[in-house]
Amino acid sequence: MSRFWSDVVHTLTPYVPGEQPKLENLVKLNTNENPYGPSPKVLEAIRDAAQDSLRLYPDPNADLLRNAIAASQGVHAISPRQVFVGNGSDEVLAVVFQALLKHDRPLLFPDITYSFYPVYCALYGIPYRTVPLDDAFQIRPEAYDQPCGGIIFPNPNAPTGRWLTLAQLEALLAAHPDVPVVVDEAYVDFGCESAAGLVQAHSNLLVVHTLSKSRSLAGLRMGFALGHPELIAGLDRVKNSFNSYPVDRLAMAGAIAAMEDQDYFDRTRHAVMASRERLAAELARLGFQVLPSAANFLFVRHPDRDGAALAAELRQRSIIVRHFKAPRIDAFLRITIGTDAQCQALVEALEAMLR
Ligand SMILES: Cc1ncc(COP(=O)(O)O)c(C=O)c1O
Repeated sequence: MSRFWSDVVHTLTPYVPGEQPKLENLVKLNTNENPYGPSPKVLEAIRDAAQDSLRLYPDPNADLLRNAIAASQGVHAISPRQVFVGNGSDEVLAVVFQALLKHDRPLLFPDITYSFYPVYCALYGIPYRTVPLDDAFQIRPEAYDQPCGGIIFPNPNAPTGRWLTLAQLEALLAAHPDVPVVVDEAYVDFGCESAAGLVQAHSNLLVVHTLSKSRSLAGLRMGFALGHPELIAGLDRVKNSFNSYPVDRLAMAGAIAAMEDQDYFDRTRHAVMASRERLAAELARLGFQVLPSAANFLFVRHPDRDGAALAAELRQRSIIVRHFKAPRIDAFLRITIGTDAQCQALVEALEAMLR
């Protein structure tokens, strides 16, 4: 605490990201990174961009990147005016909360969800109410039928991995035409349908994506949002009141190459999905309850073992997974899908621990 801090700083409880350990040789299954590296074309594009032009500011509007993202949406026919980009989807979300979700009525989001949402609310003074998941840890769209200033949730949800179908999303949008609805699709490429195709019909829908997961670029920091040009214009107003150049030249070059390399994207995300199904079967064999997942992680609990103790023992065995000390979910572990060798190491460690 310092007497020089602004008042709001005293009230903040900042988000705590998953550990980025300095130790080598850990099996790192704790922050939902992709076990496969980025496309070789991404690395080549970044190398090509590392040149004298770095002395110049990047394009503040990131037009070439917005074009590449719009083009990557294919049948959804997204125009570049419907695209916003930022330095990781966390930054995109920070702009979204400020630009679209601060109203007198409370913002609604699930009681179990991405734990950054309440942090943004505290930072910007946004009133919010959480809406309980059902006993199977699923979002209940009908529970959102209450007065509100906006709605946000990840689809698939984090850290549960459970998802709403496109039909459920459409019904939710139809029930809430007058407030912004934000669908955070950080994990959507691992097995459920994107709401991007609903953007044309619903001017209140904003879909947020990241390149950190399915495009293997967590270290590059790149996220984007798709929505009606009016929503995007609001986001740009906030962004241009905060940082004109959130996307640097190297990130721009790498992200464009990533969005264009559809083959690599499809190959690696399908590999992750196949590993997820194999790991889910192995964990079930070991007695874990495994929630259905359309993400690059599994959310699991063992009926006889304490979640925190399991995570601590795995760490001693050089395997790190995520445990949340939070109501309703403190028995669970969230396990990122690694390579098959990493998943196998996890299974062998758990086998030994449960013996
Ligand atoms: C649901 C959800 N949204 C957004 C993010 C932020 O991703 P990034 O800032 O790396 O784009 C994460 C990261 O784990 C997440 O789980």
